[in-house]
Amino acid sequence: MNKKYIIGNWKALPDSWAAAQDLLDAIAQFFNEGIESKNSIIICPPFIYLEEAARVLKTSSLGARLELGAQDIALGDEPAQTGEITGNQLEKLGVRYVIIGHSERRWKLGETNEIINTKLKRALSHNLIPIVCIGEKERDENFKKTIEEQLKETFKGLNGEEIEKCFLAYEPVWAISSNPGAKPDSPEESVKAVKMIKEQIKKIAGGSADIPVLYGGSVTPDNVSGFVEYKEIDGVLIGGASVRKHDFLKILNIVK
Ligand code: PGA
Repeated sequence: MNKKYIIGNWKALPDSWAAAQDLLDAIAQFFNEGIESKNSIIICPPFIYLEEAARVLKTSSLGARLELGAQDIALGDEPAQTGEITGNQLEKLGVRYVIIGHSERRWKLGETNEIINTKLKRALSHNLIPIVCIGEKERDENFKKTIEEQLKETFKGLNGEEIEKCFLAYEPVWAISSNPGAKPDSPEESVKAVKMIKEQIKKIAGGSADIPVLYGGSVTPDNVSGFVEYKEIDGVLIGGASVRKHDFLKILNIVK
């Protein structure tokens, strides 16, 4: 298996720093048992835990195993943005990645491709690695077109070199576990979509961009190996199962 990226999107969980610490302790213990992994493991806790999580990573063996991502970034760097967290602040915390354009922000909070494009440029200006989420609401006959448009609009104005610094996560909205009637995509269909995305992004970048494209949507210990066995799928973006301690550890154990 080629190197994979395993990204945990904790969303608005857990409810307390104590529970977050418990999760980090369990991950630390997992690695202390001598388990080797060639993969990159990135956790994206809510903003309120980022500073503490950064401290834990800096001061323990976990720092060699885990990297830190944020779940969003402010549009600009100016201080007059009540409730927002800027790229400047994230950079200072030592955060390396940032999820941009998650479907919960696109569809529940009305983030447009234009907003996502601005956030993407902002993240790059702070040397953060954007994990850009894309995906259709329904897999109907137009879904490829929807994705093509999202990609074009999201990466508008970026040159090939900038695009090469990004990650993409293909997350069909209907597959995200918290959505009514959600079910995971099949590995066979998701790899087709991932290949299509890789071709599209090459065109947009003007030729050669070879960026990691992950799958996300109801990934669990029971189905993860089906996705990662494809070399084209560079990893998984995991929501619910990334904060269920036993599930996350099982996934780390399966994808080594
Ligand atoms: P899920 O979430 O794994 O719970 O479906 C994925 C995501 O929303 O990033």
